[in-house]
Amino acid sequence: MSTAISPTAYNYKVVRQFAIMTVVWGILGMGLGVFIASQLVWPELNFGLEWTTFGRLRPLHTNLVIFAFGGCALFGTSYYVVQRTCQTRLISDSLASFTFWGWQAVIVGAIITLPLGYTTTKEYAELEWPLAILLAIVWVAYGMVFFGTITKRKTKHIYVGNWFYGAFIVVTAMLHIVNHASLPVSFFKSYSAYAGATDAMIQWWYGHNAVGFFLTTGFLGMMYYFVPKQAERPIYSYRLSIVHFWALITLYIWAGPHHLHYTALPDWAQSLGMAMSIILLAPSWGGMINGMMTLSGAWHKLRTDPILRFLVVSLAFYGMSTFEGPMMAIKTVNALSHYTDWTIGHVHAGALGWVAMITIGSMYHMIPKIYGQKQMYSVGLINVHFWLATIGTVLYIASMWVNGITQGLMWRAINEDGTLTYSFVEALQASHPGFIVRALGGAIFASGMLFMAYNVWRTVRASNPVEAEAASQIAVVGVH
Ligand code: HEM
Ligand code: HEM
Repeated sequence: MSTAISPTAYNYKVVRQFAIMTVVWGILGMGLGVFIASQLVWPELNFGLEWTTFGRLRPLHTNLVIFAFGGCALFGTSYYVVQRTCQTRLISDSLASFTFWGWQAVIVGAIITLPLGYTTTKEYAELEWPLAILLAIVWVAYGMVFFGTITKRKTKHIYVGNWFYGAFIVVTAMLHIVNHASLPVSFFKSYSAYAGATDAMIQWWYGHNAVGFFLTTGFLGMMYYFVPKQAERPIYSYRLSIVHFWALITLYIWAGPHHLHYTALPDWAQSLGMAMSIILLAPSWGGMINGMMTLSGAWHKLRTDPILRFLVVSLAFYGMSTFEGPMMAIKTVNALSHYTDWTIGHVHAGALGWVAMITIGSMYHMIPKIYGQKQMYSVGLINVHFWLATIGTVLYIASMWVNGITQGLMWRAINEDGTLTYSFVEALQASHPGFIVRALGGAIFASGMLFMAYNVWRTVRASNPVEAEAASQIAVVGVH
């Protein structure tokens, strides 16, 4: 253990800013999720106004939870991890600060434009061209800060977590730029550069890899740092982590066509997407097992450490959703699941169970550290949050499975004379109880975020600027 204190300190300011905004956007994005879930139970909540209809608020929900909540978590943790594992300060404070304010500006832009109805109509890529350009500029700056910091590292090798964060940054830039190629016809309207089935294929190449690289690879970077840290154990297998990395990034990119089964896309492309999706199970589970097994010899810690519970349960949900995904990619299964709530259940098994839980666990680990505190204000409240999140997720996904299978079976039921047994409205009526349970589960999950906000607020209040700055100094002592 070295005791040499470097004259420099880590840049924790930008990490703190992103960490706080993760909680803020988490509450808003999930709160909006509960609101739109309630609209599906009580349609009167659309208020008869165009700005508050489900169709306009749904993309705002997805943008807020994915890009605002998930994005801030990824920026914040990647800046924290890259500094600590490279033993060096971020390459530029001003560029890092630009990424923070630029990213917030994109989000505020989304909050204004989406309810007003300005949208490209491409799912997860709805933002019109001026915002899309701003996003691209911020992203390039992010890449410069991240990779620039890696180039001036004091350590010999690049820790595997940074490989995952790095791939997430590079591929997200590529997806965003290619999928957003369009012709602007006014300040708020553009038309895609692609047409017909090509447009659909590019959109779902983007969409699936947004899942694969934004909602998975980046969060795996988080997993590779925070799980070993919280368990106080080295990663189970470093070799497996390298195989995991290369297998995941080479396979994910081919699976997009499973979103376009039974469409105008050539049949061979659909079958290729299906096959690659099934193969994708292997690296996904390799990563999950690597994370889980890191707890070998430390399982007893789960009894007393709710942060570790968040991290481990997130891996369990990751394993579950990456088993479910390949199954849904099989054409005959997809014939039942597509367009139904089963997809929504799968999405939130990944989004709540995996993405949100690993984020929450990582934040509870990181926030005290960046504010110079030993631990969060209340471990008891983390425990309460853990149970609210777990119960909320289970209610959400179980109700959507029931709804999805019910809808799929009712839509395909036919009488002897070939006519449909059920009308669409009958399937909708059958879904109503599931919608209620989902809204309840979502509300339970979102309420946990309020406990988090209180806990974070008390932790931040207990710290003072001198202490917080000292934390970034001490961290440079040659131990990480
Ligand atoms: C309290 C938590 C949440 C609630 C109540 C909620 C609710 C909803 C609802 C009602 C929909 C629309 C479903 C439909 O069209 O039938 C939706 C869609 C979606 N949500 Fe959430 N959500 C929550 C959290 C999250 C989080 C944390 C994420 C991501 C990290 C997320 C990602 C998505 C995505 C990607 C979709 C679109 C799914 C698709 O098009 O297939 N949600 N959510
Ligand atoms: C091996 C991994 C995975 C595979 C093969 C896979 C496969 C699939 C399939 C087949 C669909 C349904 C497509 C349709 O019928 O329209 C789907 C939808 C979706 N999945 Fe996954 N999935 C995987 C993991 C995940 C994870 C971990 C997450 C979240 C973190 C996720 C998020 C989504 C989203 C957001 C959608 C809805 C897209 C949309 O229609 O808007 N998936 N996935």
